[in-house]
Amino acid sequence: MAVILENRDLGDSMFLMITDHGVDSAPGQFYMVRGWDKYPLLSRPISIFDSDGKTTKFLYRVVGEGTDLLSKLKPGDEVQLQGPYGNGFPEIKGNRIALVGGGIGTAPLYLAAKEIKRKNPEKELVLYLGFENSSHAQELFEDIEADARFKIGGYITDIIDFKSHDAVLTCGPEAMMKAVFHEAKDICGEIYVSMEKRMACGVGACLGCTCETKAGNRRTCKDGPVFEGSEVFFE
Ligand SMILES: Cc1cc2nc3c(=O)[nH]c(=O)nc-3n(C[C@H](O)[C@H](O)[C@H](O)COP(=O)(O)OP(=O)(O)OC[C@H]3O[C@@H](n4cnc5c(N)ncnc54)[C@H](O)[C@@H]3O)c2cc1C
Ligand code: FES
Repeated sequence: MAVILENRDLGDSMFLMITDHGVDSAPGQFYMVRGWDKYPLLSRPISIFDSDGKTTKFLYRVVGEGTDLLSKLKPGDEVQLQGPYGNGFPEIKGNRIALVGGGIGTAPLYLAAKEIKRKNPEKELVLYLGFENSSHAQELFEDIEADARFKIGGYITDIIDFKSHDAVLTCGPEAMMKAVFHEAKDICGEIYVSMEKRMACGVGACLGCTCETKAGNRRTCKDGPVFEGSEVFFE
């Protein structure tokens, strides 16, 4: 169990939950989160927005019952966190990295950018973050030592010149990641996509979260959620 330190309403149905969970985790990993007792039955997968050894933060959007219950939790309330699960983003060899996020898919890119800069300060990072509507979620990204470019509405790919980059990390709606992959595939040597499927167990046991890849059906929770873009058959 972790204790909630803050559960901040950022507007546009987005919240930042800060917990006292002090376990280090890798960018792109996620927790199965629940802030309720019996119902809904399943915990909900939420990416790690930030983890610093003292706290773990989650950026989430209220879309249904589970996330609505999370949004009602107050400082001092307990939340159950199982994880960290999954394979996050690998070490990137490229030096000019684009991190492309759409909507709540921007969440794992904060820690990804922070960790790349911490390990390789010389690398050039550009964050391209698309939101349907403006909210205070944008401001969360402003303390990263990276050029952060925002697009409110429309297509995020409209503001990216892939020729300026040799590696791409992306997370967001599948249609957006598909478009990013197709525009970047002949230009950028490394492309990693973070897939989002509905999850039940989160640990590879139920096969409920498979995604179609060149290596056959793979479990998004255990084999992913991060895959090489060239491996995935996008829907
Ligand atoms: C690896 C992973 C990481 C994630 N990270 C985050 C995160 O950092 N922040 C965040 O807000 N959300 C994240 N999600 C999505 C989040 O898990 C869902 O929004 C949440 O489970 C919805 O639960 P709910 O009870 O509120 O809504 P439900 O009542 O279960 O569903 C409401 C609506 O959302 C759709 N939905 C639910 N889950 C998913 C899903 N996984 N993919 C696509 N559509 C879905 C349903 O079809 C339905 O239309 C992540 C999902 C995965 C798989
Ligand atoms: S959620 Fe059960 S195998 Fe992935």
